[in-house]
Amino acid sequence: MSEANDLKRVVLASNNAGKLREFASLLGAAGIELIAQAELGVPEAEEPHATFVENALAKARHASTLTGLPAIADDSGLCTHALRGAPGVHSARYAQLAGGEKSDAANNARLVAELAGTADRRAYYFCVLVLVRHADDPEPLIAEGRWHGEVIDAPRGANGFGYDPHFFLPALNATAAELDPARKNASSHRAIALRQLLARLKELA
Ligand code: IMP
Repeated sequence: MSEANDLKRVVLASNNAGKLREFASLLGAAGIELIAQAELGVPEAEEPHATFVENALAKARHASTLTGLPAIADDSGLCTHALRGAPGVHSARYAQLAGGEKSDAANNARLVAELAGTADRRAYYFCVLVLVRHADDPEPLIAEGRWHGEVIDAPRGANGFGYDPHFFLPALNATAAELDPARKNASSHRAIALRQLLARLKELA
């Protein structure tokens, strides 16, 4: 990728305000102005694929096609060893896929049920970030982050979202939902992926 210097204004292919804040502060330090896709009238794209990277690429392309600007998208989820990667790319709709409702509570209930009686509690949050300079970019920049922990049955903590109350970090003796937001944002799968993306951008500058 040789046009890294053209990345002054970049669309974020997400409508999540928390992500925008998190990404904007780190990318701002690298001289990149991040604009939420909703501000430019871009609707949410579908996430139909079996891999995180394909979903992120589809979202980034969609935003870039509709705005004519470079775009960044992320896709993420919780992967467990015992369930061979599930919930994985289906994290947001894990309960719904089993006939339940689309909610964090239902997703967590299904996760705990699927792991009942399982000794192997290892899990990680995975995040992939994709940056395209234009919709047909043949060399998208791709970065990944993994945040390792364990799934616990009883929820702990009130911060965060999604699977955070069940995602326990032994080194911190806390779940992700017990961390204050700044601490989570500094150590999470998204933070790891974002730092990798920034390092790549620096190499290319
Ligand atoms: P998305 O990539 O923002 O669409 O996230 C997909 C799903 O993965 C979310 O709906 C959550 O269920 C789960 N997920 C991703 N990141 C996190 C996190 O930091 N905490 C809790 N759940 C997460």
